[in-house]
Amino acid sequence: AEYDLAVRGGVVAGPFGAARCDVGVRDGRIVALAERVTDAARVVEADGLLVLPGGVDAHCHIEEPAPDGTVHEETFVSASCSAFAGGTTSVVCFVPQWKGQGVLGRYEDYRRRGAGGMLDHAFHQIITDPTDAVLEDEVPRLVADGVRSLKVFLTYDTLRLDDAEYLRVLATARRHGCLVAVHCENDSAIGWRIDALLRAGLSAPKHHAWARPPVVEREATHRAIALAELVDQPIQVFHVSCAEAAEEIARAQARGVKVWGETCPQYLTLTAADMDRPDFEGAKFMCSPAPRDEEEHGRVWDMIRRGVLDVVSSDHCGFSYGGDAGKARAGRDAPFTAVPNGIPGLAARLPILFSEGVSKGRITLEQFVRLSATNPARLYGLGPRKGAIAVGADADLALWDQNKRVTLTNALMRHAIDYTPYEGMEVTGWPVATIRRGEVVMRDGAVEAEPGTGRFLPRGPYDFIKPRGVLPNNFDAAGA
Ligand code: URP
Ligand code: ZN
Ligand code: ZN
Ligand code: ZN
Repeated sequence: AEYDLAVRGGVVAGPFGAARCDVGVRDGRIVALAERVTDAARVVEADGLLVLPGGVDAHCHIEEPAPDGTVHEETFVSASCSAFAGGTTSVVCFVPQWKGQGVLGRYEDYRRRGAGGMLDHAFHQIITDPTDAVLEDEVPRLVADGVRSLKVFLTYDTLRLDDAEYLRVLATARRHGCLVAVHCENDSAIGWRIDALLRAGLSAPKHHAWARPPVVEREATHRAIALAELVDQPIQVFHVSCAEAAEEIARAQARGVKVWGETCPQYLTLTAADMDRPDFEGAKFMCSPAPRDEEEHGRVWDMIRRGVLDVVSSDHCGFSYGGDAGKARAGRDAPFTAVPNGIPGLAARLPILFSEGVSKGRITLEQFVRLSATNPARLYGLGPRKGAIAVGADADLALWDQNKRVTLTNALMRHAIDYTPYEGMEVTGWPVATIRRGEVVMRDGAVEAEPGTGRFLPRGPYDFIKPRGVLPNNFDAAGA
């Protein structure tokens, strides 16, 4: 047969339009987009379905251990099942660095772990201890191996960088052609609020949100952008939860600064009130930044429509509620400071974005494609191979029934976590099949893929994240 696979009769959705068309696949790649594709070894009928590019989730925590004893229970295998169940085919996940240690050893370990799963994957290297050895010797070797993004935290005791350290990471990224992704919250402000809250006996899960109101996110976002501007280094602000932080991004974008903003389904659907559920159930909604309220959801949608926030990722975190590593590991009356931060959302990301966005008329189908696949792939150097349906691209597809109504349950998430924060949520629109490099890896919720078939996605230099060449006094402090 001329083709290994034909996907026939669907409406193919691209970043700038949708049309009825068949897809012909050979050797894992799309080789034909045509009115009619025949002579295929295997045919998948897609009548009445949308054919979407497989989701690209550029922010997933998988199998990450932390020095404080937290371990993400999601493995590369379980994460692959969950991703395929939700229509996602590629992820960018993280290699941790612990203070006092280098990065290369752990990086090699993560390459091996990633290769054991089924998802195509790239890595962000987290930098928590930017020594000369790490920045001058190790980072260049990671770049040579295809890592093109560094992740930094401006909060969390075991992870955060001070401004001087952050500047050094920005300068290194500039010299080596990496993007920097930043967790923006003011650590000192949060610590000061936490001390006062605990002294006042306000230690329930809902007080997690009291410890980190929007202003601490806005301040850190402003500072992260200002310092990136000083270095002339492009950044992406991770998990923007509120309009006041997004406004900082919008203002910088208007000046021409290369700064992009990501948000997540939790900031469009969950609220601080969820953290106030009885019997410590509120811990199931604890992530940072904290979920806000309904009015804020509306403002975040506005920022999406304006293009200020142009990527929607899950920030998937593999913490169960129960168990030794779970949210309630320190007991159901533990202070919120003892609860690991982060919530699972790998499988729920596309259904929620589609339902709350496209089905409810807040965004177009084309915007959905850009937010969920095309933009993250372009920003992180995975395009044009990933993130769009085009001749030459990998045949990564989600076949989508836009009329199917589903009530989200934990079982549907196909992850290793014992709960979903979206339990009971009704969505309209659901992936009925997922195709990864021409192979049907999910059909009606059943995942069939061999562990060990996930591919590492090395990234070369790419123009999209090139510095602008705008430097104070025309002096390149990063190169000096
Ligand atoms: O609460 C969160 N988001 N935890 C995961 C790590 C991070 O900050 O992205
Ligand atoms: Zn973060
Ligand atoms: Zn809402
Ligand atoms: Zn994260």
